[in-house]
Amino acid sequence: MPKVTGLEGVVAAETNIGLVDGEKGHLVYRGYWAKDLALGYDFEAVAYLLLNGTLPNESELDSFTKALSSNRELPAHVKAIIDLLPAEMEMMSVIRTAISSMGDSFTQWPPTIDQAIRIISILPTIIAYRYHQTANTAFVAPNPSLGHVANYLYMLTGKEPNTAHVRALNAYFILTMEHGMNAGTFAARTIISTQSEIASAISGAVGAMKGPLHGGAPSEVIQMLNEIGDISNAEAWMRDVLSSGGRLMGFGHRVYKTRDPRAVALREVTSHLIGEDPWFNFAFEVENTAIRLLEEYKPGRRLYTNVEFYAAAVLSAVEMPTELFTATFTASRVVGWTSHLLEQVAINRIFRPQSIYTGEMPE
Ligand code: ACO
Repeated sequence: MPKVTGLEGVVAAETNIGLVDGEKGHLVYRGYWAKDLALGYDFEAVAYLLLNGTLPNESELDSFTKALSSNRELPAHVKAIIDLLPAEMEMMSVIRTAISSMGDSFTQWPPTIDQAIRIISILPTIIAYRYHQTANTAFVAPNPSLGHVANYLYMLTGKEPNTAHVRALNAYFILTMEHGMNAGTFAARTIISTQSEIASAISGAVGAMKGPLHGGAPSEVIQMLNEIGDISNAEAWMRDVLSSGGRLMGFGHRVYKTRDPRAVALREVTSHLIGEDPWFNFAFEVENTAIRLLEEYKPGRRLYTNVEFYAAAVLSAVEMPTELFTATFTASRVVGWTSHLLEQVAINRIFRPQSIYTGEMPE
């Protein structure tokens, strides 16, 4: 009998939220191409779409935006808990701990849209608070007049962010909000299906996201780009890696056997917005060389650029510190997680798969 592992190919739920088609390279959110949403909408409108099922009209968008911006403050007890955590505790564990300490408003079942808004709003503040605490710099309080994405950059730097950076990060947030039944989403849906509360479901999802096989390692792409250093070195550097059986970071995907649509969209959106940025142009050139060499060394394997490549290029172009890459991914993916929680409770049946016993039987 073949080994039963990893639930590969198993359908665990029906969903109206998002479609991932790896053969066709399709990524759809609630009936819209994710790419079009990233090109034409703000974070707030797309978060509303995922949570509610339709794009907001003007007044719905206005009240949703206000609800997000008025929920950003960290409770004093959460700040105190973060202050007490050991300095060496890394960011994803801090986020997990902070979410699970949020208190009573998150402990009833079923979860509500107001709880979802609170968690989405507060995540960037948790990251910024811990970032400044570790760096020994003064915490920058959220600015309610800024949008969700601009405010995140503002809290990290203390400066009003430039528009191109906000647009590029906005596209990144939209394109990484939702991705079908990935491990974090499955973990969150499983936890909420037991009628446990939203704080536990999101803490569990953060725990899943923290693993390098899920949250990914866009910092490895940065390391590769830094080692290449200049486009004139790219071909020799990559031939070295490929001829010794190594892998190029940011290429290949388990599901997508064509260009990852998130990478395509991120490339388009950011080249548009960031324009002549030398770092970004360098990343484009590296990508072109990599695709050519992958076809030469691995013919027929269908290895294309994945989201990690452009996530790294975009996060780096907006001057996001490398140690915040996975946390920033979490701050966007929490929109998908909370949307799935609301969907799960509406049709709830506890997740309870079977296993095959392969141990000994008693005499
Ligand atoms: N560079 C060079 N060769 C590669 C790469 C790569 N990036 N990816 C796959 N290959 C080759 C493998 O060596 C293998 O070759 P072979 O047939 O000669 O043995 C073939 O392509 C198939 O590889 P698998 O490992 O079977 O493909 P799988 O679907 O399991 O792997 C994965 C997907 C893990 C993403 C892989 O492509 C990889 O390691 N990429 C580099 C790391 C990376 O970019 N990770 C981020 C993924 S995106 C995300 O997680 C959100």
